Amino acid sequence: MFQKRKAGERILPEHIAIIMDGNGRWAKKRHLPRSAGHAAGSKNFKEIARYCNKIGLHYLTVYAFSTENWKRPKEEVDSIMDILRDYLKDAKNFKDENIQVKFIGKIEVLPEDIVYLIHDAEENSRDATGLKLNIALNYGGRDEIVTAVRRIVAEGLRPDEIDEAAISARLYTAGQPDPDFIIRPSGEFRLSNFLIWQSAYAEFWYSDVLWPDFKPKHLEQAIDDYCHRNRRFGGV
Ligand code: IPE
Ligand code: IPE
Ligand code: MG
Repeated sequence: MFQKRKAGERILPEHIAIIMDGNGRWAKKRHLPRSAGHAAGSKNFKEIARYCNKIGLHYLTVYAFSTENWKRPKEEVDSIMDILRDYLKDAKNFKDENIQVKFIGKIEVLPEDIVYLIHDAEENSRDATGLKLNIALNYGGRDEIVTAVRRIVAEGLRPDEIDEAAISARLYTAGQPDPDFIIRPSGEFRLSNFLIWQSAYAEFWYSDVLWPDFKPKHLEQAIDDYCHRNRRFGGV
């Protein structure tokens, strides 16, 4: 719930979501393969997640791979999956850092070894009490809603039992607050199928900085900006 604040007081959003975009352009600028951009993006993601935990943010959701990203050349997709494998093998560290990690998206269709590593990382960090980190992987907002509707039908709900809460409770983010603040670096002004249900009243923030260059100081600028927004939720 958004809290009213006194002048000059900073209240963090409860839930920040980031579309980690611009890895390819970052690599291109340096005459490197796109895979090098994804590696740099992954390194930056770890830094930003740590920073969010340090400042006491409750929820961070990052967009890592969309249901549409399979359209990319196989070589690029393979390199992203390899970076993910390395990250997951290392993800035990999140437990030590007190970060609770959860993957959202169609996980079960990913390569078997990755599914195993994901379950392991989630299990290992389950009791962490710090930042709750959602990693959106093979995630699509429309796919998420379709999956929720299928669940509703499979559970045999009557039409009068279907309301917004019933749908929210069947999304990957069930039980979590909606994102208050969505950040997209890299100069694009679109959601690209990210959290389309949950972002109904989210505030947006865009930046030309490419994701591997997006540092805690940029996040701080974004949060400062958020603190000056007036959220009305349809009221006055
Ligand atoms: C985001 O960076 C990472 C993924 C979508 C997996 P991009 O790879 O989309 O980078 P640009 O947009 O081509 O620069
Ligand atoms: C969105 O970025 C997906 C991720 C960052 C994982 P894209 O680069 O795939 O989005 P479009 O294609 O520019 O809309
Ligand atoms: Mg992109």
